[in-house]
Amino acid sequence: MNEMRLQKYLARAGVASRRACEELIAAGRVSVNGRVVSELGAKVDADVDEVALDGARVEPPREAVTIMLHKPAGYVTTMSDPQGRPCVAELVPKDAGRFAGLYPVGRLDADTTGLLLFSTDGELGNALLHPRMHVEKLYLALVEGTPDARAVERLSRGVRLSDGMTAPAEVRLLEGAQAQQAARLIGSDAAASGNARRHDGKRSRAAVERSGACAYVAVGLREGRKRQVRRMLEAVGHPVVALHRASFGPLSLGDLPRGRWRELTPAEAASLKAASGAGEGAKERSGRGGEPARS
Ligand code: URA
Repeated sequence: MNEMRLQKYLARAGVASRRACEELIAAGRVSVNGRVVSELGAKVDADVDEVALDGARVEPPREAVTIMLHKPAGYVTTMSDPQGRPCVAELVPKDAGRFAGLYPVGRLDADTTGLLLFSTDGELGNALLHPRMHVEKLYLALVEGTPDARAVERLSRGVRLSDGMTAPAEVRLLEGAQAQQAARLIGSDAAASGNARRHDGKRSRAAVERSGACAYVAVGLREGRKRQVRRMLEAVGHPVVALHRASFGPLSLGDLPRGRWRELTPAEAASLKAASGAGEGAKERSGRGGEPARS
């Protein structure tokens, strides 16, 4: 028994977004076992029922797949880049069998390393990114200078950025063994370190580390605005030199090597789904129905 609502079946099968599938059903274009079904509450058993759109059979939806990538620096978060830059699509399985339709859940900047999720389950992706779900992402940042207690307090309460105040965040200055562990996790990445000046004209990571005038900061965020961690730290006078995402909700990278991916274990997939609240009103939260999350 693999029962689900008809619009979910169609969206999961890749017909269109959940909302567009509802319109197809209401328009009387969908049939189940040869009979037109036009009410939206109808359920089907994906293992048994034959669903058709405009008379053509719709193959049953595949089991959703979610993977994690340990993203290296130097890769843009997109599945294809018209400008030809290295992109994360080169690092994950794609377009083949059960991995067809794999999309990144959210985004990491090109020069950010760490945990990036991909899923074929658009509903899960949208739910995970919705601020109301409060899924925390933990970032480790190497910053210029050492934030004092006041700066940490400001970051924790919220700072004003060009797109408004940030929500309260968990911010800690890391010292001793914690700083060493952060240094290990951030690692040295050829594209993120080196002697070159950073693209924004600021001092290179190597120069900052040599000077000793730097610190490690942990930032736990439940929002996901563009370059948010970098802009927050810049706003309190401590530009980011290197940034790494250590965890996403209940998931962390463990010993996954940089540049490698792996499928979530069933326990990880279940805990992620629980953290996302997927299924409970996900449709209402998502403006795009079943399409994969792309930003
Ligand atoms: N915040 C940033 O500034 N960059 C990222 O890549 C992720 C979060």
